[in-house]
Amino acid sequence: MSTATATGSPTAERLYEKLRNVAAGTSGPYSRERCAELAPVVDDINRLKRERNAVILVHYYVHPEITVGVGDFVGDSYKLAKDAKSTTADLIVFVAVRFMAETAKCLNPEKTVLIPSKLNGCSLADAISAERVRQLRQQFPQHTFVCYINTSAAVKALCDVCVTSSNVYDIVQRIENDRIYFLPDKLMGENVQDEMKRRGVRKDVQIFDATCYVHQQYDPERVQRLKAKHPGLKVLSHPECSPEIIAHADHVASTKGMMQYLRDTDAPAYLLLTECGLAGRAQVEMPGKTFIGPCVECRYMKSNSLQDVRRVLRAPEADDIVEVAPDVRQGALRCINAMFRYAEMAG
Ligand code: 13P
Ligand code: SF4
Repeated sequence: MSTATATGSPTAERLYEKLRNVAAGTSGPYSRERCAELAPVVDDINRLKRERNAVILVHYYVHPEITVGVGDFVGDSYKLAKDAKSTTADLIVFVAVRFMAETAKCLNPEKTVLIPSKLNGCSLADAISAERVRQLRQQFPQHTFVCYINTSAAVKALCDVCVTSSNVYDIVQRIENDRIYFLPDKLMGENVQDEMKRRGVRKDVQIFDATCYVHQQYDPERVQRLKAKHPGLKVLSHPECSPEIIAHADHVASTKGMMQYLRDTDAPAYLLLTECGLAGRAQVEMPGKTFIGPCVECRYMKSNSLQDVRRVLRAPEADDIVEVAPDVRQGALRCINAMFRYAEMAG
């Protein structure tokens, strides 16, 4: 028997079943009526995807109707870079922010990479230019330059190794040089310094001075109060948070690592100290779990919409198409491939 109702097609019902547990602050609530409105757009996108042999890569932070409705690959920045590397599709639609789409383009110069968001910055990637990296390299000629994946391709082209939140500690530890310049995230850099000390690894880690405007907002005292109020609460933190926040965390990981921790544990409640799209995704996958705490959104990630995904698949405009100049691409690819090499080293 069909589960469709008077207000919804089978797609609308599928969306409603998946999204009904997403709370108001995390892009929801998703009523049957709202899902019925979204369903024709989802159907259009899935048809266009087949016609154009396209694949849709989606970061965890975007609105859950996109991940659930049309996402082929959903994950953190490392997983999405690997997915981009291995896809056989002709066209990649990257629903996230520009630096992630640029990484996909560097890995797939022969494919078309589209980015639906018109506001596709990132407070970290926008904080450092290639020119600034040139100056720093002159100032620190002995240091290995490690850049966070949240940087432009032009910045990556001037660095030695790129890292993501899922591999930053292990890669810094594995780099042979004990002099490291880490950019652009100051808080992640401080966490790297602390983690190297914890691991007994001697490294001189110099750091740049940018922060993510989302992750810098968390207040350690508020976290302490929530822990006192909710016995058994598990606190999960992204390494873009400050060392004071990390000190209160039960688990520090990339967004994918946090999702895995949620699947593997059974606590009375969780506090996710990262962009609140992750809580939305967790509410889709794990409707029985309880999430507390503030909903802090990234305006760049949240500027992606289903309508814009459909628009770029139908008729992309010039600035929806991600281009990286060949010389920049060559340098950035060296840096990205160095990440894959270091990340995949055993031990
Ligand atoms: P992840 O790689 O952990 O998903 O982080 C990306 C990001 O931009 C965090 O703000
Ligand atoms: Fe950039 Fe912060 Fe948004 Fe991540 S959450 S994309 S680091 S601004």
